[in-house]
Amino acid sequence: MILFRKKTDFQTYLTTQKQRGKKIGFVPTMGALHQGHVSLIESSRKDNSITVSSIFVNPTQFNDPNDFKKYPVTIENDINKLEAAGCEVLFMPSVEEIYPDGVPSDLKYDLGYLETILEGKYRPGHFQGVCMVVHRLLDIVKPDNLYLGQKDYQQCMVIRRLIELTGHTEIKLNICPTFREPDGLAMSSRNLRLNEEERKTAPAIYRALLHIKENLPKGDLLSLKESAVKKLIDNRLKPDYIEIADADTLKPISKWNAGQKLVALAAAYLGEVRLIDNLVLN
Ligand code: PAJ
Repeated sequence: MILFRKKTDFQTYLTTQKQRGKKIGFVPTMGALHQGHVSLIESSRKDNSITVSSIFVNPTQFNDPNDFKKYPVTIENDINKLEAAGCEVLFMPSVEEIYPDGVPSDLKYDLGYLETILEGKYRPGHFQGVCMVVHRLLDIVKPDNLYLGQKDYQQCMVIRRLIELTGHTEIKLNICPTFREPDGLAMSSRNLRLNEEERKTAPAIYRALLHIKENLPKGDLLSLKESAVKKLIDNRLKPDYIEIADADTLKPISKWNAGQKLVALAAAYLGEVRLIDNLVLN
């Protein structure tokens, strides 16, 4: 695997590869890699001649400074995992390399409704930060294919919008299924921060979503959500939200017409750690 820290060197390399007709797949990450990230690398390897990944813990997307400070860093392990997965190129820039003029305060991506609901509502500024970094990364890499995880459902929708807003419409967005632990917990870098006790209770978030999925045909959605919230609270999770939404628009749904595709989304704190998950319901 080739490692680049400077964007100019990286771009020179990419230009040469593109001139040789190589197809580029791109998997952006913040490191602390797990099997979920590896599954994105594997998807990219199937469709492209070169798979590029990036590791950059993006300061502008952390609305909670403590979350940024405590974000797990496991670089050596990450490099080994990427190499074992057959990733050809890793871009690991410094903050100055990505934000040479500091963090822009005036740039505002028009994310509309997506920014006011769910993660947008509970993590103000988060998606603006995601857009800042992904915009810069896409400008640098200009991949043929971009790979994102369904685990971050709303982020996928935001980045789809970013691709439109920035005119990078030649990039194909590929959304890959959520990779889970055997007990159902969605793999996440933040799981590393759970203590033993918390780790045991964490799958309650998945079970609450599964409860919604299994009882969907019976239920009025409000009482389904209430019983799912109760499941979280009974397991000492503190929910920010559990929502049932239209899978294409993310608009919350209170009455289900059977033809509509739905997704259930949840965010909850377990101790200091905030976990998110989602499940497509039908
Ligand atoms: P990070 O949390 O490191 O995730 C990198 C990619 O891996 C994202 O597309 C995410 O959805 C995907 N991913 C995480 N857990 C997964 C799982 N269990 N199964 C499948 N895919 C999973 O998301 C980010 O970083 C950042 O916001 C980023 C897009 C890199 C911008 O900074």
